[in-house]
Amino acid sequence: MEKYFPEWVAEAELTLEQASERQSDYVELMADFLRAQGITTGKIIDAGAGLGRNTIYCAKKGYSVTAVENDSTIAAALKARIGEGRGNIDVQQQPIEDVVASVPGGSLDGYIDYGTSSYIPVAQRRAYGASIEQKLKPGAIVILHFPDIPATRDDNAYPGYLDTLFDLHDLEILFSRIESNHNRTVKADRVWTIALRKTDGAIATSEVLQKMVALRVEESKQRFMMALSQLWVFLGMKDVGQTSTVQEVLACINTFPGVDEKEKQKSEMQEYFQIVAEVYSSNPLSRFDFIAQSLEQIDIESRVQRGIQRLQS
Ligand SMILES: C[S@@+](CC[C@H](N)C(=O)[O-])C[C@H]1O[C@@H](n2cnc3c(N)ncnc32)[C@H](O)[C@@H]1O
Repeated sequence: MEKYFPEWVAEAELTLEQASERQSDYVELMADFLRAQGITTGKIIDAGAGLGRNTIYCAKKGYSVTAVENDSTIAAALKARIGEGRGNIDVQQQPIEDVVASVPGGSLDGYIDYGTSSYIPVAQRRAYGASIEQKLKPGAIVILHFPDIPATRDDNAYPGYLDTLFDLHDLEILFSRIESNHNRTVKADRVWTIALRKTDGAIATSEVLQKMVALRVEESKQRFMMALSQLWVFLGMKDVGQTSTVQEVLACINTFPGVDEKEKQKSEMQEYFQIVAEVYSSNPLSRFDFIAQSLEQIDIESRVQRGIQRLQS
């Protein structure tokens, strides 16, 4: 395990409660999309579950999750972490392709493939995708996360990548985003996240669509968090991500160590400052208590604007 994912050694020590707070950024979006359609229980597969951060999150939300992990060491660590008596989590140490093939058609409400599909050889990926599609219920949500630089080196990044998996006949794309990779589990500079919905023959009802639009507000909060963590990365700090505070980020904005030499990064930094400013001005961000507290004391917007001006000058 440490050979491929050294950071998981510490991760394995986390309690279940701590682990349930460490889901991938867009798995929350999947839960939101399901909830918007009234799907609050049901069956989810977490393909290549690793140490199960997404499995544990979804189980806590009330879904029954089959966590599939074919690496014996990682699967054993996952089983040990989950322990006995977790009725709504089933860990399977098998290739994901075999597990998907064995579940009944039309039985899945959600499917998470966070960094695993790129392990499957391109020649076999369409069969994997077709099998997933066939096992989804109408309204089911799929979350895919994959590297922009193909892990297998013999395919293209999205949209070509998505074509290697699905024909998209019965799947509609709800959301797609590329961003710099601040995540630990996929080795690439940029990563894609795509949310798909299995159609039910009709277009989603307007009520469901309205709820989904409302959920984009939630998503912009996530963009804010990512922008913060990107600032840290660009400023040469370690990945502080979701635990960084506004004060810490502002301290960085005020110093900009070595930013002039980093011409290439300048425009990207600017973009992230803009996201921070934009999202801050349109959202109360009440969900992030530590930000809300900090905002009472700091005029973040004018300081971010000052940062942008400094970058432009
Ligand atoms: C990039 S990691 C992602 C882990 C997890 N999804 C997360 O976000 O934390 C990919 C995982 O998929 C597993 N894996 C790779 N190919 C697989 C396959 N064919 N079947 C099941 N698991 C697989 C790897 O062992 C690894 O743990």
